[in-house]
Amino acid sequence: MFYQWNESMSVGVPLIDNDHKALIHLINRLHESVNAGDTYDVLDELLNRLADYIEIHFTREERVMDACAYPQTPEHKEEHAVFVTFIQGLRKKFTAGDAQALARDLADYLKDWLNHHILIQDMAYREFAEGNADATRVAEAFGPGLYDKMRSGAAEQH
Ligand SMILES: [Fe+2]
Ligand SMILES: [Fe+2]
Repeated sequence: MFYQWNESMSVGVPLIDNDHKALIHLINRLHESVNAGDTYDVLDELLNRLADYIEIHFTREERVMDACAYPQTPEHKEEHAVFVTFIQGLRKKFTAGDAQALARDLADYLKDWLNHHILIQDMAYREFAEGNADATRVAEAFGPGLYDKMRSGAAEQH
């Protein structure tokens, strides 16, 4: 396993933890895909899914931070926005010619970025969000956690 979620990464909101597990799962898939020498199409599909999940997750997380009146919400949203711009730029650069190298660098980068982001930035709202009924309610408005969603989607396909 390239990268693994564990309890020390819990930010106190189960749906957010569930989203983080999905992002970690996709980063692992991307890493495995590069090692397996998968085609551009496979890598592109994974990257697109990851970008979609990141945007859904960030939106859910931002609503949670708003709901629990976390004071550093504006700075945290700014971090998310910078990252979304980075991912969008990367998707444009992701051409068949350098897909493998780019995907490998990306898997490493995403692992470090997400790890830092969860443990430092996201963890900082834990004391505000944990056990906060409003935070839980707005998190639920986005449907199931992404990891559960991904697994139920996979079950439907088979
Ligand atoms: Fe975040
Ligand atoms: Fe997060």
